[in-house]
Amino acid sequence: MLHIAVAGASGRMGSAFMDFLEKIEGVEALPIAAHPVADENFTQLEAVAGRGGLDVVVDFSSPDATLRLAEWAATNQKPMVIGTTGFTAEQLDKLAEILYPVPVLLSPNMSLMMNLAWRMMGNAAKVLPHDTIDIEIVEKHHRNKRNAPSGTALIMAQIVAEKRGWSLAESLRHNSRWGLLGERPRKEIAISSIRGGSLNSEHTIIFAGSGESLEVTHSCQTLEPFSKGALRGSRWIIRQPSGVYDLLDMMGLPEVLF
Ligand SMILES: NC(=O)c1ccc[n+]([C@@H]2O[C@H](COP(=O)([O-])OP(=O)(O)OC[C@H]3O[C@@H](n4cnc5c(N)ncnc54)[C@H](OP(=O)(O)O)[C@@H]3O)[C@@H](O)[C@H]2O)c1
Repeated sequence: MLHIAVAGASGRMGSAFMDFLEKIEGVEALPIAAHPVADENFTQLEAVAGRGGLDVVVDFSSPDATLRLAEWAATNQKPMVIGTTGFTAEQLDKLAEILYPVPVLLSPNMSLMMNLAWRMMGNAAKVLPHDTIDIEIVEKHHRNKRNAPSGTALIMAQIVAEKRGWSLAESLRHNSRWGLLGERPRKEIAISSIRGGSLNSEHTIIFAGSGESLEVTHSCQTLEPFSKGALRGSRWIIRQPSGVYDLLDMMGLPEVLF
């Protein structure tokens, strides 16, 4: 039996994950839903963990809640799978510092396909000429999404910057262009964030050259791919030594595919 504590279980993603786990044999899920994480949640966790009945904590909540939960997981030697997004660079450093004694799978996108797409984009960004091919990223989400740009889009930009040897801070541009801007700088990675209604989560990268362009789009019609990835990640992370991992580590994908 795999025992999973789910933080953010009352939220959109957390509740979908709970519903998904209900149908999986050999898995028991404990929801942690209160906002803010109240002491009784930790007491409940202590009790379950104390009986040896907790293998991993899966988190789809908010950066503040994740940091509190991480303290608990590190102290109690429990592996974590973190799907929460919207961390600042400082929060990510703090998270790695807190969680150094345990294995952690951290991914702003738990879809295996999206992770594969990151690899494909990285290869394309590297191989296509850096001085003639412009790169733009477009992400779409439902109207209730709190953070922009999405954590997934930021990873896409980070991958492109790394593969092109550009500084992310200097090349990243967010959202709409307005006014007489002149020619687009070559060393620019622009992200456009679209929010509305119940739009499916969709990420597109556009490689725009002269007379041709290439687009790679990943879209999610349901939250199931994220649940599947989080469960697969849970089974994997509990067998790893302490350290911070991502889904590409789990998938064992080589750095260059062609
Ligand atoms: N990695 C992935 O594949 C993936 C996929 C989907 C979503 N996400 C991310 O997962 C997170 C949650 O997304 P969502 O759409 O489910 O959001 P949501 O519907 O707003 O749910 C957030 C959940 O976190 C809880 N929460 C928020 N702040 C908290 C705090 N300080 N202490 C304790 N609990 C707190 C909320 O509890 P209350 O209801 O009590 O406020 C709620 O249960 C976001 O960061 C989102 O980007 C990641």
